[in-house]
Amino acid sequence: MDRQFWLERWEARQTGFHQQQVNSYLQRYWPTLGLKPGSRVLVPLCGKSLDMLWLEAQGYRVVGIELSRIAAESFFTENGLIPEIREEKHYTCFVHKKTELICGDFFRLTAEDIGQIDAFYDRAALIALPPGQRPAYATRLAQLLPSGTPGLLITLDYKQHEMNGPPFAVPHSEVLELFESSCAVEHLFHYDALKDNLRFSERGVTGLGEHSYCLKRI
Ligand SMILES: C[S@@+](CC[C@H](N)C(=O)[O-])C[C@H]1O[C@@H](n2cnc3c(N)ncnc32)[C@H](O)[C@@H]1O
Repeated sequence: MDRQFWLERWEARQTGFHQQQVNSYLQRYWPTLGLKPGSRVLVPLCGKSLDMLWLEAQGYRVVGIELSRIAAESFFTENGLIPEIREEKHYTCFVHKKTELICGDFFRLTAEDIGQIDAFYDRAALIALPPGQRPAYATRLAQLLPSGTPGLLITLDYKQHEMNGPPFAVPHSEVLELFESSCAVEHLFHYDALKDNLRFSERGVTGLGEHSYCLKRI
C-alpha cells in the first residue's frame, strides 16, 4: 500500500477499520505486560484510535505515528481535545497532555524523532501492510525498541485468496518469521471472529482468526 492509498482513504472517509470502542484485547492483555506508570507507549500507524485515549487514562504516555493529517486532526477534534501543534522538517507533532501524535511516515521517522519508547501496541498496523512491506515494518519497529521492551500485537488470519487486503492475513508462521531475530513471541489468544465481522463474510471469507501476541524485544 503506498502512502497515497491511505491518504485517499482518509480523504474519502473510508475508515471501516476504525473501532468505536476501545479494543477488548488491549484491555484484557495490556495489564499483563507489567509496565510502570508513566511508561511511554508507541502506537505505530495509529489512525484516530480510541485505544490511545485508554492508554493515557491508564497512566501511560502515548506516542502515535500516523501518515494522514486528517486522521491526526480527527483524533483530537472528535474527542474534544485541543492539541499544541509543532511543525518539524518531515513531520508534524500534535501534543495534548500525555498524548503525542506524530503525523509523518513511520518508515522515515528515526529513533531521535520518536524518542524513548517503553512499550508498543500494534492493532491493525502490521496487517495494514502488504507482504513486501512487512519485513521493513518489523525491522523498523525493532530498531526503535530498547532490549526488554514489551508490546502487544493483534493480527488477523484468513485465506488470503478469498479477499484482497487491507486488512491482510498475517499467519502465525509469518509473525514468527518476521520477529524471530528481534523478539520473543508469545501467542496469547486466538478467536474465531467471522461471526462478528459481516463485512468479511460478505466478501467471501470463510474463516477469520483474530490473534493476540505478546512480543518482547530481545
Ligand atoms: C488499518 S489503519 C489502522 C489504524 C489504527 N491502528 C486503528 O486501530 O484504528 C492503518 C493506518 O496506518 C496509516 N499508515 C499507513 N501507512 C503509514 C505510514 N507509512 N506511516 C504512518 N502511518 C501509516 C494509515 O493512514 C491508517 O490510518
